[in-house]
Amino acid sequence: MSTNNWQEKYADYEFQDNGRSTHRRRKTAKTPANERVADIQEMDDGIESWVPTYAAALDPQHHERQWVIASVEHFYRENIITDVTRLVKGGKEANVYTCTAHPATGLDLVAAKLYRERMLRSLKNDAIYKEGRMLRDAEGKQIRSRRERTAVQNKSGYGLHLDFMMWIGTEYRTQTLLHDAGADVPKPVAHNGSAILMEFIGDEYGAAPALNEVGLNRTEAGPLFRRVMDNVRLLLDHHLIHGDLSAYNILYWDGDIWLIDFPQVVDARVNPHALELLQRDVTRVCEYFARFGVESDPVQLTLDLWQPYMREIAD
Ligand SMILES: Nc1ncnc2c1ncn2[C@@H]1O[C@H](COP(=O)(O)OP(=O)(O)OP(=O)(O)O)[C@@H](O)[C@H]1O
Ligand SMILES: [Mg+2]
Repeated sequence: MSTNNWQEKYADYEFQDNGRSTHRRRKTAKTPANERVADIQEMDDGIESWVPTYAAALDPQHHERQWVIASVEHFYRENIITDVTRLVKGGKEANVYTCTAHPATGLDLVAAKLYRERMLRSLKNDAIYKEGRMLRDAEGKQIRSRRERTAVQNKSGYGLHLDFMMWIGTEYRTQTLLHDAGADVPKPVAHNGSAILMEFIGDEYGAAPALNEVGLNRTEAGPLFRRVMDNVRLLLDHHLIHGDLSAYNILYWDGDIWLIDFPQVVDARVNPHALELLQRDVTRVCEYFARFGVESDPVQLTLDLWQPYMREIAD
């Protein structure tokens, strides 16, 4: 099946289970991911196809099974992953799975984020995030073809598909840039038209919780708050604003934090809503840390970031 075909086929498929409390997950949790072996099964057409452990536990007719295989098979063949072992989180826009990494990657585990095309529809106010963005293909090249530009602008089926690939490409490039700049983001490993692979935060028994699921003690809250704000500043040094930063999009593991979830990132140089989005990000972070005794003034903190930034780009 070509990439386009299976994208269309699974575009509207929605899986409701959030994976945190299923019996399936508890059962598999006893066996460390790296001790399981993916199945190789014969498909109807006689072509040998790879069926990872997680998918093998699902009914062969189950849409999720087909979707997972179609989305990540390429990474298996490229020796980036050797198995998909469990669902970390399922949502309307994307599912995140735990994968066993191929030794060549130098990692033990990899997180695979598989998007649905419908994520575009639910990106709230996507016009706000899009303003000032150039049309780019999945590899980040500017889209120059008139046919493609028109398709995206008219939101035709093909246009929406291009748009979808564009968002994923943007998320991957942003994460790569930030990781290389030393930000606390999971190391990106690979991407294709509908999935991003990255360093897994957590261990074989489970993914790192998001900050909103964690109660911090007062001694660690202060330093972690400064760490998050240092990351916000680092992003801005690279002209970027997360755009959806909150305790839901910051993972916590072993006393450290990681920022995740970048599809709605904006370019502070060109987006007219940049300041307002920055202030919202900072405010949400301040609100979370206030619960653990960290006092801060989000309006002042935003100005302390924004004013020097504006002076710098004006020079
Ligand atoms: N690199 C990672 N390592 C471990 N777990 C991860 C990783 N990335 C994401 N997750 C898990 O998947 C969840 C959802 O990730 P993310 O926020 O990127 O997706 P999302 O589609 O925006 O979901 P949501 O709508 O819940 O924000 C995270 O809360 C976390 O539990
Ligand atoms: Mg998120």
